[in-house]
Amino acid sequence: MLTESLYIDWNNSFEVLDKAHEAGLFVLIIGPKGTGKTTLAREFAARKGAKLESINFSLRTRESHLVGSKTLDSGAIGFEHGILVRSMKEGSMLYLDELNAAEADVLLRLDEALDDRRQIVLKEAGGELIEAAKEWFVTATINPLSHVGTKELPPQLLSRFPVRIKLDYPPEETELQIVKKYVSGSHEKEILQGIKLANILRQAAAVEELYYSPSLRETIAFGKVLNAGMKPRQAADIVFANIYAQWGSVEYQKVNDVITSMLGN
Ligand SMILES: Nc1ncnc2c1ncn2[C@@H]1O[C@H](COP(=O)(O)OP(=O)(O)O)[C@@H](O)[C@H]1O
Ligand SMILES: [Mg+2]
Repeated sequence: MLTESLYIDWNNSFEVLDKAHEAGLFVLIIGPKGTGKTTLAREFAARKGAKLESINFSLRTRESHLVGSKTLDSGAIGFEHGILVRSMKEGSMLYLDELNAAEADVLLRLDEALDDRRQIVLKEAGGELIEAAKEWFVTATINPLSHVGTKELPPQLLSRFPVRIKLDYPPEETELQIVKKYVSGSHEKEILQGIKLANILRQAAAVEELYYSPSLRETIAFGKVLNAGMKPRQAADIVFANIYAQWGSVEYQKVNDVITSMLGN
């Protein structure tokens, strides 16, 4: 994948990850969607030459995804380990994405493995005791609580991740450098306008004047459609404005007016 060696470390996150890794402390990355959390975790694993096991949490994630489940193979009952147990045994890196979208029972099971003993008892598999290899390393991400479907993590689980990295939307110039990593060709001036527009919408969303905050995915997409030959105004409509119609014409019109004032009709 393209994203592998593209990460721009604009807030020294690698250094923090490195130190935490050295100290055997697990890391929590907090920030809105599209601020590079997943890319950062992937790239860190790649730099360490570690295998990365990832799981994206949702309401549908079950304990069995983590610990494993029974199998039936030509009459014999076995047990296939889930991602948590596999990564503990292998000593790989485990990436727990959007941890605060998980249900409480799933979090409880995770908590058992993450405490200082780094072990878990598989009651599902005859009480087998799994102990983590000493290289085992865990990073997790959470979205700010304003995001739909997110819940507050229980404090004891938070304490399993004593190192916390806060990611946010980057400064304009940095965002431009990031977008240019994904978009070949010129259009630098227009891309910068798209980033300014995104920042206006982000600020409005932050004070709840708008329902949606565009991420770096959108500014990257904006650069890509410009590069494909689209005019800035149309690109801004399809990438930034149209989505607000989801919340009705008043919401949409607010954004449309901002775009008109920046880019004309
Ligand atoms: N610092 C950065 N350097 C390079 N690319 C970035 C950076 N931050 C974000 N991106 C890009 O922005 C997009 C969204 O990032 P992603 O890691 O998926 O965000 P998140 O996991 O926070 O939702 C991806 O294409 C990603 O590669
Ligand atoms: Mg992500």
